[in-house]
This record gives sequence, C-alpha cells and structure tokens, in this order.
Amino acid sequence: MSAPVLTAVAWPYANGPRHIGHVSGFGVPSDVFSRYMRMSGHPVLMVSGTDEHGTPISVQADKEGLSVRELADKYNRVIVEDLQGLGLGYDLFTRTTTGNHYRVVQDLFSALWKNGYITPKTQMGAVDPNTGRTLPDRYIEGTCPICGYDGARGDQCDNCGNQLDPADLKNPRSRIDGAVPKFIETEHLFLDLPAFAEAIGGYLSSRTEWRPNVLKFSQNLLADMRPRAITRDLDWGVPVPLDGWRDAPMKRFYVWFDAVIGYLSASVEWARRTGDPDAWKAFWTDPSAEGYYFMGKDNIVFHSLIWPSLLLGQNGRGDKGGEEGSFGRLNLPTEVVSSEYLTMSGSKFSTSRGTVIYVRDFLKEFGPDTLRYFISVAGPENQDTDFTWDEFIRRTNFELANEWGNLVNRSVSMAHKNVGAVPRPVAPTAADEQLKAQARAAFETVGANLRRSRFKAAVGEAMRVVGAANKYLSDEEPWKRKDDPERRDTILHTALQVVSDANTLLTPFLPHSAQKVHEALGGTGVWAAQPEIREVSDLDVADRQYPVLMGDYAGEAAKWESREIEVGRPLAKPSPLFAKLDAELGETGPEWAPIAK
Ligand code: MF3
Ligand code: ZN
Repeated sequence: MSAPVLTAVAWPYANGPRHIGHVSGFGVPSDVFSRYMRMSGHPVLMVSGTDEHGTPISVQADKEGLSVRELADKYNRVIVEDLQGLGLGYDLFTRTTTGNHYRVVQDLFSALWKNGYITPKTQMGAVDPNTGRTLPDRYIEGTCPICGYDGARGDQCDNCGNQLDPADLKNPRSRIDGAVPKFIETEHLFLDLPAFAEAIGGYLSSRTEWRPNVLKFSQNLLADMRPRAITRDLDWGVPVPLDGWRDAPMKRFYVWFDAVIGYLSASVEWARRTGDPDAWKAFWTDPSAEGYYFMGKDNIVFHSLIWPSLLLGQNGRGDKGGEEGSFGRLNLPTEVVSSEYLTMSGSKFSTSRGTVIYVRDFLKEFGPDTLRYFISVAGPENQDTDFTWDEFIRRTNFELANEWGNLVNRSVSMAHKNVGAVPRPVAPTAADEQLKAQARAAFETVGANLRRSRFKAAVGEAMRVVGAANKYLSDEEPWKRKDDPERRDTILHTALQVVSDANTLLTPFLPHSAQKVHEALGGTGVWAAQPEIREVSDLDVADRQYPVLMGDYAGEAAKWESREIEVGRPLAKPSPLFAKLDAELGETGPEWAPIAK
C-alpha cells in the first residue's frame, strides 16, 4: 500500500477575489502534485479553506461597509468559485469560521496549555491615540530593529523575514492614519517557542530534500525563536477556552494561530463529512503518512517553525515534555514547499497598486488549463518571476496549441479519416518502438520530478515526449503512405499510443484538456475528476450553510502508467484543444487588464 499523502494548501484570506499571483503560489502547484500522487496510487487528502479571522478581514469589512461575517461569507463564496474554476481538486475546501474549526483549535490549545507551553504575560499593546482602538500588529509600521528596513510591519519584517513585536519597532506609526501609537498594558498568552528550538533544529537538519531557500530561511530564523503572543485584543476570532478569557469580549486567538490549525480541523471535518469520523488519522498519526505544505514564501515561517512547534507541543515533545493531546501523536510536515512571487513589471501582484489579474477574468477568457500550464512551466518556482502577456501568449500558442494540440489533432484526424477507429499496427519498426519506449520511460522521469515538486522540470520532460512525437510524424509522413496502408496504420497506431501516454503525463497539469483527449481517443467516463461546489450545513452550529469544494476523485480513471490503446475503438473527428491567441494581445493585454503604456 502506498503511503497516505496529506496535501496541506495555504488558506487564502477571505478578503477579496484571488488573483493569479495567489494561485501561482499555493494553488496550481499543490493541485498538480496531488493529482500526480492520486494517479500513482497514493491515498491523498488535500485540504484548505478560507482564512476568515483577524485584521485582514476586519479592515476590508470596514472598507466595504460590511460586518466581518458578511465579508467573510461574500469572499468565501467568490474564492470557492475561483478555485473550482481552476480545477483544484480539494478533498475539502472549507473555512475557519466553522464550529468544527473552533473546537479543534481549542482542543489543540488545551493540549499545549496542559503541557506547559503557554504562558500568560503582560505586554505593551498599541492603541490608536485618536480613536483609542487597539492597533493590530500589521497595521503598525516602522524601522526594523534587526536590519534597519523602514517598511517593517509590527508582526514581521518583509526585508529580513524576522518576526517582530510592534513595541520593538523604531519610529512606529499607524498605517491607517500615520499617527504614533500609544502603548498600554494588556495581558496575552505566549507560545514558548524557545522550548521547541532544539527539537525544531533537529527536525530541520533532517529535511535535506527541501528546496534550499526554504530550508536556509527557516534555519536562519531558528536563532531568533522568542516567545510569541498567540492572542490579540480583538472581538473577531476563536475564543480562548480558559476561565477569565472565554467570555472576554476583546480577547481572541491570533489569526495565524487558528489558521495553521486549519489543516487539522479541515481534515477532521472532511472525515466527519465522509461518514468515517476517524478517517483523518491515516493522514496525521500513521507514521508512514507524508505531509506536503504548499504556500507563497511570506508564509514559510508559520509552516516550518510555528506549526511544527504547535504539533510538538500537542505531542508533548518540546523541552518541557508532556503528554499527547486528544489528537494522538501528530506528524510534522514532510516538506514545506514554498513558491516565490509572481510579479508584474517587477513588483509583487497587489490589489492596492492596481497591477492585478483576477483569476475569474482570466478563466472566463482563456480557460483554466492555459493558466495552469503557464504557472507550471514559467511560474515562480524558484525565483520571483515576471508575468507578461507576451510570454503567456507565446507559451499558449507555440507549446499548447502548436505542439500538443496539433499532435492530438492530426493524429486523431488522420486515424479517423483513414480508418475511423484506432488502427491495427503491423510489424513496428525500430523508430516506432523507440518513440513508444521514450513515452513509457517518461513516467519515471516526470514522476520523479513531480514527487519533489519540480514542476518546471516535470512539464518540460512531458513536453519532450510531445516534441518527439511531432518529429516522428514529420519523419514518417503517414499522409504520404496511401500505397502502403499497413505502414500508415502502424505509424498512426504508434502516434495514438504516444498521444495517450503524453496525455496521461500531462493530466496533472492539464486535467480539463486531458478529459477531452481521453474522449477524443474514444474513451468514456471520468478520466480526471474535478472538484464540485457543494452547499453544506455546519456540522455543529445550527442554521449556518456554506459552500465547500469536494470531489469524487476515487472515481477517476487516470493512472500513472502507460496503457495500451485498444485497436478498433471508434474515433470521432476531434475539435481543436487550444484556441490560438491573437499575438497583438501580447502588446495590449486584454481589455480587463490592459498593459500600462
Ligand atoms: N491567509 C494567509 C495568507 O494569505 C495564509 C494562511 S495559511 C495557514 O497569507 F493555513 F497557515 F493559515
Ligand atoms: Zn528586518
């Protein structure tokens, strides 16, 4: 039995529609990975949801004149639609405002508390001098005390990556109105991160397979593991299950504390929804299970240091020891897979600066697979990468349409026209055998790259098979073999076999087109399953409905192996897989995201 694989995908804030920068970080890579893992026989659990607490939500709610819950409801649905449209195959995409999530967060906290890894401490909290309202950390900016960068936020310096406390900032000011915050005393709960430093150090040094930037970044931060506040003076968040805190109107868990626990709560919710409430355990407490976490690079510290610390604390495995909490002994991440940024004209995609391409606009005009392909082949896998319309059009036209679409189209058309079915091969030549062998061998090379989240290399290897098949057709010229139908049929059979294999190899990247190619080859049924939006009721709170993504992935036919095409299976005339885009679009951009002149 293959190891169970948890794919844990970063939770997008429910504060706006998703743009293509977001989904190039967490979205497409995690889905390509999960589809490959499922196809190669691993039980996969892919979970996430919208991140709905904290100031990112309350600030946007103020802007839109909505309550926090209204805002979260609005964008939870928008994001569910964005991700469904892209074909991201979540087993469960839920949200952090469910009764189930609240309980799991509180249970995990209780284990940390019992094991002594949480300490109350009075600290200085910032309030706006004009309004008297507490100023959330990330709405304070100033000079980083560590590297001197002037745009550091109260919670984190984006320049050196260090975690900060607002009170440490030099020249602190409010990002809302520039006022100099007043600091007043307030009690908070702190996670004793230093108590995990040794265990985390050992853990990280065993993670030799991680992308070097992720590992190095995490190891650098290890030196600065200070106790971190996990509560905030806020009324929007998960309540703290301690006497004196439970009913305090302005004490809630910090959004990052509850959000990372979402991976576990969503797994529990998935299990409860599938009717086997213990089913999550195979992905979390089975020592052979693997867990892969996908995100953009600004999320690394939360996944490589803080989340493992919470897990160790729950397990009773930090310096203070302790007992396993109610979840048993939870696995630490096998790998934290982080992407760099997709930029536009050199700057990070940003809603506020106007450089933004929304997923839903993109999907409406170009469909999901062109974007999935672009992100896989030219995304920010290892370095910040500029998105340009020009390159998008080039990749779509020359690689998807000319290379792959054309290979499918001419192979199936010729077989359809001449035979009407998958032709019978007679006496294959060395060239035929060689091409088929190349396609078969690619399952190992592409698979090895996908297992390690090397998407560019993987898609490149798959496209090499496509290139070789196109060259084969040009060399063999089946269209000139009118006098030798046996040879013609053998060539066409070879081409169709390789189209079938290449389609399997490309399925994780291009699941929607893969379904069409499957049908063009005469296949029926579901080849690559897609997520569905289901309206569900909260399992614990009365009268609350919300949309989730779930899917019947076990019902899909795609397997990571070459399968022999069936001689005699009827073929229909194919329709083009990818429309060619107007090259001029590369200079102007589409109307809804014009290129600034
Ligand atoms: N909402 C966060 C962001 O967009 C990501 C949270 S990932 C988590 O940066 F699951 F860990 F919460
Ligand atoms: Zn800094």
